[in-house]
Amino acid sequence: MALILGLESSCDDSAAALVGSDRRVLAQAVVGQNEAHRPFGGVVPEIAARAHVEVLPGLIRQVLAEAGKGIDDVDAIAATAGPGLIGGVMVALLAGKGLALASGKPLIAVNHLEGHALSPRLADPALGFPYLLLLVSGGHCQLLEVRGVGDYTRLATTIDDAVGEAFDKAAKLLGLAFPGGPAIEALALEGDAKAVPLPRPLLGSPEPHFSFAGLKSAVQRAVASGAHRPADIAASFQQAVIDCLVDRTRRALAVSDAPALVVAGGVAANSAIRTALAGLAAEQGRKFSVPPAWLCTDNAAMIAWAGAERLAAGLTDALDVSARARWPLDEMADKVRGAGVKA
Ligand code: KG4
Ligand code: ZN
Repeated sequence: MALILGLESSCDDSAAALVGSDRRVLAQAVVGQNEAHRPFGGVVPEIAARAHVEVLPGLIRQVLAEAGKGIDDVDAIAATAGPGLIGGVMVALLAGKGLALASGKPLIAVNHLEGHALSPRLADPALGFPYLLLLVSGGHCQLLEVRGVGDYTRLATTIDDAVGEAFDKAAKLLGLAFPGGPAIEALALEGDAKAVPLPRPLLGSPEPHFSFAGLKSAVQRAVASGAHRPADIAASFQQAVIDCLVDRTRRALAVSDAPALVVAGGVAANSAIRTALAGLAAEQGRKFSVPPAWLCTDNAAMIAWAGAERLAAGLTDALDVSARARWPLDEMADKVRGAGVKA
C-alpha cells in the first residue's frame, strides 16, 4: 500500500488529503473561499491566490495529524500543477515541491482534470478502463474516452461557456448567491421545469459539442420580462441543461463502445443531472458511475488518487516541473473556441 499526500489550489478551494493506493481516504480537508468572492459574483484570482497561501500549510498539518502520520510515512506528494488560475496553482505545486525536496519523496504533478477524470475509480473499485467520461465543472464541459492513466481522447467540448459557468451566470441573473450550481438546484425544487420556454443549444447536431451561451441569454430575457417566478426559471434552466447533456452524451455513446458512462466534476454534484444520466446509461446498456458529491466538487482526495494511479504507473516528476494555466487532457484535440482554463 502506497500513501499519497494530495494538494489542490487551482481555483477557489484549498485542499489537502491523505489517500492510500488501497482507496482508503485517511484524512481530507477542503476550505472554500465563497465568502471572499461572493461580493464579486465570481472568483477573483488575486484574492484566491492569497487565501491559498494562508490556508494550505494548516490543512497539510491537519490531515497528517488526523491520520496520525508524519511526512516520512508518505510515499509520494501529488500536487495539482494546472490547469487553473496560475497564482493559485503555484501555491500547491510549490508546497508540494518544498515537501518533496525536504523529505526526499517523489513529486507527482497532477493535471486537475485528470484528478476529476480518475476520481470515479477512487469511489468505485469495480470501474475499469475504458469509460466514457462526461466532465462537467466550472471551467469545462467535455466528453472524453478514458482508456487508461494519461490516455484520454476528447470527443467533444463546449464551443462557448462551461456548464458550471452557465449555472453560475444564471444564478447571478436570478440574484442567487455564488456559487450558482447548488443555489439553482435548491430553487429548482420549488419550480415548474416546463413553465419557461428556453432553448436547447446544439440539440440533435451530429458532433457531440456543447453550447450554453444562448441559454444564458434566454435566461436573461426571461428574468428581464418579469413574467416568471424565479423558481420556474431555475427549474426550466436546469431542465434545459439536462436535456443538452443527455442528448450530447447519447450522441457520444453512439460512437464509443466503452462499457461504462461516468460523470465527474463539480456539476456532477447535481442530483437531477445524476439521475438523468443514470437513466441514459440504463437506456444505452452501459454501466453508470458517479463519485459521491464531495468527490465531485474540487478536493485533494482526487488529486492524491490520481497521484496513486500515476505512481503505480511509474510516473513521477522532476522538481523543476512548471505550473500550467492551460493544460488540456487530450493535447491532440483541436482547439475549439471558448473552453475556459479552469477545471
Ligand atoms: O469542479 P469544481 O468544484 O471547480 C472547478 O470548476 O474546478 O466545479 C465548480 C462548479 C461551479 O460552477 C458550481 O456552480 C458547480 O460546479 N456546481 C454545481 C453544483 N455544485 C457545484 N452545479 C450544479 N448543481 C450543483 N449541485
Ligand atoms: Zn475542478
